[in-house]
Amino acid sequence: MQLIDGKKISLEIQEQIAAEVKTLVATGHKQPHLAAILVGNDGGSETYVAAKIKACENVGFKSTLLRFAADTSEEKLLEAVVGLNNDSDVDGFIVQLPLPKHINEHKVTETILPQKDVDGFHPVNLGRMVLNLPSYISATPYGITKLLEAYNIETGGKNCVVIGRSHIVGSPMSILLAKNTKYGNCTVTLCHSKTKDLKSHTLNADIIVCALGIPEFLKADMVKEGAVVIDVGTTRVAAPETKSGFKLKGDVKFDEVAPKCSYITPVPGGVGPMTIASLLMNTLLAAKKEIYA
Ligand code: GUN
Repeated sequence: MQLIDGKKISLEIQEQIAAEVKTLVATGHKQPHLAAILVGNDGGSETYVAAKIKACENVGFKSTLLRFAADTSEEKLLEAVVGLNNDSDVDGFIVQLPLPKHINEHKVTETILPQKDVDGFHPVNLGRMVLNLPSYISATPYGITKLLEAYNIETGGKNCVVIGRSHIVGSPMSILLAKNTKYGNCTVTLCHSKTKDLKSHTLNADIIVCALGIPEFLKADMVKEGAVVIDVGTTRVAAPETKSGFKLKGDVKFDEVAPKCSYITPVPGGVGPMTIASLLMNTLLAAKKEIYA
């Protein structure tokens, strides 16, 4: 069994980005600039946004964080989105999800200019991704493709099961893995809460991407010997013994599944750091205007 070290790969990517930023700035370009909007004080979102801002510092990007109270109106939030659309210094920006219930997430996403949508959530970017046109690819699925590439994991002709059909991870992941690319050409089965006999699918899988958000959902008896297991789950569970009072749990019962795997991602330190590396890669593409010339 080999552990897939997402932290290491993410840091390698960040070093490459930092070198490119140095060259850009030395040749008279402005510093790439990522902005983030955070609404409310959800603990997980606070942590993720702080990590994104810190990563910007690491690679030499400028960053801006716009914070709004949980009871901010949709109108106010949309005004801020339009403000960032029109700010020529900002290359790309994200609105951290989830948003409070009174705000329409789709409306917010569709208000972001596709050219600045470095999360790759806008329908134009998702549509272009499906059509193999240049686009920003959603950070988590993009990061997973980079992990598969970094570890030279053979995907062509393999059976792949993606568990979870979210717009952010499961759905785009299933499309990417089926594409005619180095990390693709899988035969993909997208499983979800209405799937019958999930185990019959997962036991047939060479690669399993688990992205449903239920801690320790995937057990050893659901995984075939030698499978590659990618764990996207990051649920906070109470852990009074830790300083923060919680720890992150993946969707995979790691201790019993890992011995059966050829490769597996840990939580933390697997997919999470790659989401950040992908966001930085997308922001660099935005700064260089490589997707939308
Ligand atoms: N919430 C969970 N993952 C993400 C992400 O990749 N981007 C944004 N904006 N919100 C998220």
